Amino acid sequence: MENVVRYALDGSIATINIDNPPVNALSVAVRRGLLDALERAREDGCEAVLLSCDGRTFIAGADITEFGKPPASPSLPEVVKELERFPKPVFVALHGNVLGGGLEVAMAAHYRGIVPGTKLGLPEVKLGLIPGAGGTQRLPRLVGAETALEMMTTGKPITAEEALRLGLTDVLLEGAGKEDALRWVLNSLGNDARPRPTAACKVPSQPPVEFFDEYRKRIAQKTRGQIAPEIVVELVELAMQVPVSDGQLVERERFLQCRESPQSAALRHVFFAERATSRASGIPADTPSRSVDGVAVIGAGTMGRGIAMAFANAGLPVCIVESNQERLEQGLEAIGKSYATSVRRGRLDASEVASRMACLVGTTDYEDIADVDLVVEAVFEDLDVKKEVFRKLDDICKPGCVLATNTSYLDVNEIAAATGRPENVIGAHFFSPAHVMKLLEVVRGEGTAPEVVQTFMKLAKSIGKLPVPVGVCNGFVGNRMLRPYARQAQLLLLEVGTPEPIDRAMESWGMAMGPLAVGDLAGLDISYRSRLAQGIKPHSLREYAVADALVEMDRLGQKSGAGYYRYDGYKRSRQVDERTIELILRVGTEWGVPQRSIEESELIDRLLLALINEGAAILRERIAARPSDIDVIYLNGYGFPSWRGGPMFQADQLGLDLVLDKLAHLKKATGDTCWDADPLLVELAERGEALSTLNQA
Ligand code: 3HC
Ligand code: NAI
Repeated sequence: MENVVRYALDGSIATINIDNPPVNALSVAVRRGLLDALERAREDGCEAVLLSCDGRTFIAGADITEFGKPPASPSLPEVVKELERFPKPVFVALHGNVLGGGLEVAMAAHYRGIVPGTKLGLPEVKLGLIPGAGGTQRLPRLVGAETALEMMTTGKPITAEEALRLGLTDVLLEGAGKEDALRWVLNSLGNDARPRPTAACKVPSQPPVEFFDEYRKRIAQKTRGQIAPEIVVELVELAMQVPVSDGQLVERERFLQCRESPQSAALRHVFFAERATSRASGIPADTPSRSVDGVAVIGAGTMGRGIAMAFANAGLPVCIVESNQERLEQGLEAIGKSYATSVRRGRLDASEVASRMACLVGTTDYEDIADVDLVVEAVFEDLDVKKEVFRKLDDICKPGCVLATNTSYLDVNEIAAATGRPENVIGAHFFSPAHVMKLLEVVRGEGTAPEVVQTFMKLAKSIGKLPVPVGVCNGFVGNRMLRPYARQAQLLLLEVGTPEPIDRAMESWGMAMGPLAVGDLAGLDISYRSRLAQGIKPHSLREYAVADALVEMDRLGQKSGAGYYRYDGYKRSRQVDERTIELILRVGTEWGVPQRSIEESELIDRLLLALINEGAAILRERIAARPSDIDVIYLNGYGFPSWRGGPMFQADQLGLDLVLDKLAHLKKATGDTCWDADPLLVELAERGEALSTLNQA
C-alpha cells in the first residue's frame, strides 16, 4: 500500500487515514490504498471501520488532474461499492471540505460524524461533470429530491449545521482529533450500531409527476448551454424509480459522457487557469512582500467607492480622499446606501455593516494619508489629472508605500514617471462594481519592483479578488481585446441592418450579453469620448458611424432609454427600434455597405476571431504571460461563458490551422487588415503546437 493511505488496528477498530496533500484528492494511489485497507480490515476481523483524513480537509473530490488521462483501476465506484457493502459498520469523520467524490465516499459509509465549520457539496457541475460514484442516486435518498437537485445543479456547498438538519450527517463531532472520532465510534458501537447502507434506504416521498419538468424549466435560464445540470435532473428522476445499483449504471455512462465533453475540458481548464494566475510570471514565489495595514483611495466616484468597500469588507482601514467636501460626502453617502441595500436584501446584518463602515474615513487633505501602506488612485481618466495626483502622492506618502492607479487605458509607465519612485507604482485595474467583481488586472510597469507586484497580488487575494498580472498597453488585456470585438460588432451591424441577430447569436453561444447590448449598458458616450481622446473624429470611420450618430441623437444606451435598442418600462427590456434600423440603413448606404442576411455561425466566427487574433498579439507582446490568463480575464470580467473555457481555449479547441483558415478567408472576403493573422498563431501552427503549450510559462 502506498503511504497516502495508512491502516492501523486500534483495539477492534480499523482506522484508515488518508494523507494525500493538499486536499486528499482521490488519486489512483488513494483508491488502491482504500481497497487494500478495507481488505486488511476484513482479514483482521475488526468490529468497525473509521475513515478520516489528515491535513486541512477530508477528501475534496476526485483528482481532477487524472481526468483526460487513461483511466486507472480501481475506479471510484468500485471503492464506494466495497465501502458500502463492508460487513461491519463504517464511520467517517468529516472536516474541511467534503466535496465531489469525497461526499460520495462519505455517503457510502454507514455513519457520518462532522466537525463544525465543515463544508459539504457535489460541485461536479462546475467542472462540466456530474457526480460519478453514486452521488446522484444516494444524495436524493438521504436529503430528498429537491435538496439533492439544488446541491447538484448549483454545485454550492452546504454547512455542517445544514447537513445535520437535512440528515446528510449524523452527529456533530467535538473536534477534528482522532480521539473525538474514536469516542463517537465506540459510543455508537455501544448503542449497537450496525452496517446501514444508504443504497438500502427507501426513496423519500415521491415528488409529483410534474416536479422534474418544472425544475428543468426553473433552472433553464441559469444553466443555459450546459449539459451537466440537465443530466443531473434526469438522474435524480431516475433515482426515484430504480435501485441504486441500476441508477449507478446509467450515472456512470453519463459521467463518462460528461468527462469526455468539450464543456468539461473547458471547465477543468478554467479550474487550473484561475489557480495559475496568482503565480505572477517572473516573480519567484519567495519574493518578499510588504505588509499592508492601512489603505487610501483617491476619488470617491463610481470606482473609488467600490474599491474602498472592497478593502473595508476585508476589515482594512481605508481613508478616502476627494477633491472637495461635497463630492466626499456624496461618495460616503453612496457607500452607506449600498450597504443599507445589502441589509435590506438580507445579504448583510446591521452589525457587520457597522464594522465595515467603521473602517472608512474621508478627507480632502492629502496630508492625512502620509502613513498609509497603499494608495489606490481612482480619479478621472485623464493623464494630466492622474500625473498631478501621483506627484502629490510622491511628496506626501511614506517611503515604501505602494502607489496604485485604477486607470482603464492610460500608460502606467508615464504615471509612474511623474513620481521619483516608479518602482513603487503599479496598475490596479478593478472592474465595476469593484466591491463585487473578483477580477483585477494587476499592471506591472517597466519599473515596478517584484516586491511591489508580490505585495499587491497577495493583498488582492487576501481581500477575495482574483488578480491577474498583465503588462502595460492601451487597455491592458481585457479592454484592449474588447476594441476589435466591439468594432467587429459594429461592422456587422451595417451589414445585418439590425442589432438583434448579432446579440442573439452571441447570447445563444453563451455570452452573458451580446456586444451591442453591452454597448448600450456601458453607455455609448463613453466610447465616443474615448474615440475623441484618441483623435478619431466622429463619422470619420465606417465602423463607428452608427454609434457616433446615436450619441449625437442623445441615444446613449440604457441610461437615456435608447441606444442601439429602445428600453421600455421598469424592466428595461430591450426592444428593436425602427429609428435605429432606419439610421443603420442610411449610414450603410452612405458608406456603400449592402445589407445581407448573415448566418449565425459567421456572426460568431467573426466576433470570436476578433478576440482570438488580438489575444494572440497580446501574448506575443508579453502583455499577458499565458493564454490561460487571458481566458481568466474574459471569463471573469466580460461575460464569456466558463463552459467555453475562454477565447484562447476556444482557439485551441477549434485548432490553430482552422483559425488560420478562417482568418485567411475573412481577409480575402473583406480585405480588412484586422484579419491578418497574428504571427504567433502562424508560428505555433507551423510547429504543430497549440496555444496551451504557452501555459507552462
Ligand atoms: N484534484 C486535484 N487537485 C486539486 C483538487 C482536486 N480535486 N482540488 C484542489 N486541488 C489542488 C489545486 O489545484 C491547488 O493546486 P496548486 O496549489 O498547485 O494550485 C491545491 O489543490 C489547493 O487548492 P486551492 O488553491 O483551490 O485551495 P483552497 O483551500 O482555496 O480550496 C478546495 C480548497 C475548496 C478543496 C478547492 O480546491 C476546490 O474546490 N477543489 C475542487 C473540488 C471539486 O471540484 N471536487 C470535485 C471533483 S470531481 C469529482 O469528485 C468527480 C466524482 O464525482 C467522481
Ligand atoms: P468618476 O468620475 O465616477 O469618479 C472620479 C472621482 O475622482 C470624482 O468623484 C472626482 O471628484 C474625483 N477626483 C478627481 N480629481 C481628484 C483629485 N485630484 N483628488 C481627489 N479626487 C479627485 O470616475 P470613475 O468611473 O470612478 O473612474 C475612475 C477611474 O477608474 C478612471 O481612471 C476610470 O478609467 C477607471 N475605471 C472605471 C471603470 C468604470 O466602470 N467606471 C472600470 C475600471 C476602471
